[in-house]
Amino acid sequence: MTIATKKLSLTINDQAVGPIDVPEAMMMQDFLYEYLNLTASRMGCGQGICHACTIIVEKDDGALEETRTCIMGAHWFAGKKVRTVEGHAKRDATGAIVALSPVQQAFIEHFSFQCGYCTPGFVTGATVLMDQLKRNPIRREELEPTIVEALDRHICRCSGYVRYLEAVRDLILQTPGLVKA
Ligand code: FES
Ligand code: FES
Repeated sequence: MTIATKKLSLTINDQAVGPIDVPEAMMMQDFLYEYLNLTASRMGCGQGICHACTIIVEKDDGALEETRTCIMGAHWFAGKKVRTVEGHAKRDATGAIVALSPVQQAFIEHFSFQCGYCTPGFVTGATVLMDQLKRNPIRREELEPTIVEALDRHICRCSGYVRYLEAVRDLILQTPGLVKA
């Protein structure tokens, strides 16, 4: 039996990838792991529930969208620009990390995670939320409910929710332009 494949090209973390022959039924998570060795996003439930596996899709207008990779076929991402967790920190010309993203830094400073299995998903979700608030700032009284709504779908089996939420709240309040005066 032969497995049907189809060419796949996309942009990942600002690098053109492909065309590569990829099985038509392969999920994006498997493509990232098995073809590109991009293993930072996590396989949790594999059923679209826990959001440990999410990555960012950068839309044509620059807006960021969070997308699950365990239930989305790799070819759904054809031609798209995506950012995996490996693409959040700043790197030098050799690829070495020189600075974490503001969200990553905030999670470390707040001791937000324990085992860390859910953390790539929370980094992704919080980064998308920050982008949304840059485009559509909210009032201060809307902040906590907005964070809860944005991150509610992420499951943390160590129950580290409070410190994640505190880290995101503090980062948003320290970042000019996200909350209306
Ligand atoms: S692993 Fe994708 S949603 Fe749980
Ligand atoms: S820190 Fe362990 S699952 Fe969230």
